[in-house]
Amino acid sequence: MTEIARGLEGVNVTTTKLCRIDGQKGELVYAGYNIYDLAENSTFEEVAFLLWNQRLPNAAELAELTGKLHAERELDDLVDRVLHEIWNDVRPMRTLEVAVELLGAQDRKSSDLSNAQLKQTAARLTAKMATVIAAYHRLRSGHEPVAPRDDLTHAANFLYMLTGEEPTDLAKRVFDVALILHAEHEMNASTFSAMVTASTLSDMYSATASAIGTLKGPLHGGANEAVYKTLEAIKTEDNVKPYVDDLVARGERVMGIGHRIYKTTDPRAVILEQLGHEVAKTSPDRWYFDLSLKLRDYLAEKLEGKPLYPNVDFFSASVYRMLGIPSDLYTPIFALARITGWTAHLLEQYADNRLVRPNAVYEGAENKKYVPVDRR
Ligand SMILES: CC(C)(COP(=O)(O)OP(=O)(O)OC[C@H]1O[C@@H](n2cnc3c(N)ncnc32)[C@H](O)[C@@H]1OP(=O)(O)O)[C@@H](O)C(=O)NCCC(=O)NCCS
Repeated sequence: MTEIARGLEGVNVTTTKLCRIDGQKGELVYAGYNIYDLAENSTFEEVAFLLWNQRLPNAAELAELTGKLHAERELDDLVDRVLHEIWNDVRPMRTLEVAVELLGAQDRKSSDLSNAQLKQTAARLTAKMATVIAAYHRLRSGHEPVAPRDDLTHAANFLYMLTGEEPTDLAKRVFDVALILHAEHEMNASTFSAMVTASTLSDMYSATASAIGTLKGPLHGGANEAVYKTLEAIKTEDNVKPYVDDLVARGERVMGIGHRIYKTTDPRAVILEQLGHEVAKTSPDRWYFDLSLKLRDYLAEKLEGKPLYPNVDFFSASVYRMLGIPSDLYTPIFALARITGWTAHLLEQYADNRLVRPNAVYEGAENKKYVPVDRR
């Protein structure tokens, strides 16, 4: 019988210089740098450069990239007009998807697939997606969008554009690290979907829109918002046990737990937990984090023997909540970070393209004879 690789599990579809994951050891490496090292010492801008060039920038290169990102922060007129029109009817991830396609529609060089132009597009998307989400949030909150500030980092500027207030140093750093942690993750579902689109030589904007649509699902990027909803549903520490027992008895999944690759704790969850402890010290919303810890501990007991551990989404929900970010922006924020990884993979794909076109094994009927509709 023909073997079917359901979910393409275990199938190698390409080579990459961007990311290595060891799911047994809980190791995540971006272009040779361990994620713990990057989270401790680097910045999102540096990591973006690293992914697009497979090396860290020198000071001049970092300044050049930062300048490029600043230059691309303003909203395009068309996107601005559409946002004003749709904010009340369209949810954030779909808004992002639409906005990315509109940005493509306005870019006369969108079909230029040279490496230099693609890198320019990658920086454009990275800068503009942050502004789009912040502007969308402002509009639905009854305010006009906040203009970006060039003296703030990408992470700090996003938080600033959401609220109009400069974030604390702790919030700036924590959010910057969160973006670093979400920037890249090898051949995950959204990256693969970007790759499939690019393999037809469609442009980087459409490939990104495909990735956003894929990230939206609760088995992928949508899990962080689902974790938040779980915490809201549990409400109190006493309710952790009955809630989980009931969920497991019904054969349902606990969001933020488990991973196709990691069979131990996801290192990103370890780092987010550490950050959570820091933010919780001064946060009025620390109960979300405390509840997450209780939930994590009880799940470890309940699911003992199964290789199910917290993934990146598990603690990002309570950390974002403690930073004051609305829960339906958690998945868009994942996209704001992952745009760097998506576009880095797209650079690799366009440089060495092969149309992605797998097979399906036919199991349907044969030899049927067409019968006109009035005789069926
Ligand atoms: C991420 C995910 C889709 C990966 O799953 P996968 O590689 O396809 O693993 P499987 O679906 O084959 O699950 C293996 C076993 O673990 C169980 N399992 C997996 N995730 C689980 C979860 N979150 N809660 C409870 N049980 C879970 C499955 O029911 C299955 O049990 P069984 O062997 O007794 O049937 C899955 O872990 C999941 O749905 N997690 C919740 C969503 C989430 O957090 N996604 C974000 C990922 S970063």
